[in-house]
Amino acid sequence: MNYNVYKTKKEASEAAYKLIKENLKENSTLGLATGSTPTDLYKAMIEDYKTSNISYENITTFNLDEYVGISYDHPESYHKFMDTNLFNHINIKRENINIPDASAKNLQKAIENYQKKLDNNTINIQILGVGSNGHIGFNEPGTPFDSGVHIIDLEDETIEANSRFFGGDINQVPKQAMTMGIKDIMRSELIILLAFGENKKDAIKKLMTNSEITTEIPCTILKNHQNVHIFVDEYADYQN
Ligand code: F6R
Repeated sequence: MNYNVYKTKKEASEAAYKLIKENLKENSTLGLATGSTPTDLYKAMIEDYKTSNISYENITTFNLDEYVGISYDHPESYHKFMDTNLFNHINIKRENINIPDASAKNLQKAIENYQKKLDNNTINIQILGVGSNGHIGFNEPGTPFDSGVHIIDLEDETIEANSRFFGGDINQVPKQAMTMGIKDIMRSELIILLAFGENKKDAIKKLMTNSEITTEIPCTILKNHQNVHIFVDEYADYQN
């Protein structure tokens, strides 16, 4: 695994974007994350889009996850997050954007549809954040490594961590999410994992130093992937 430490989230995000740009082809497929982690990365993408001749016209995207039980219009839906933080600012085609349909009436059908689309595509570049408990996507500890798209009950730690987006009220945080599985993530050709802040240090330490690969710390599976690049700020640096 290629490990990179930068002083700030902004610097680390700009370095991660540089790597994305080097690997981005006209018709690449990108796997995208939400939450606080990728915001500066998306800013760097938008900034460069405005000032260079890069085009997203033939780019396809797949998001990792979406909360169950909140509609698109909810300010914290991941679909809304993506529109606000990236899609509304670049020339991506709406039909090339894929996000789990976690407000579908028939969730089983929505799972099958998303899985089918993922199976018919190869994600060239997957962006990942990591939970303080080591989750990737919303694959919480205990999720089998061979999992595909599924609905997961969010852990108390995740609900607590994400309550900051819901006015600090854990009762407002959805309790379930639809997520790509670990198997889907591992199929990506290049994985870029970002981690910022002290509360990610432990997960990064387990990823970088613990020889054990265990479903109890989902991100440890990335040790088995041949092309993982990690970008952290100094607070998440396990050597610090
Ligand atoms: C979000 C996702 C999650 C987050 C993780 C960290 O799409 O898949 O794994 O990356 O929960 O969240 P933040 O970035 O808010 O600390």
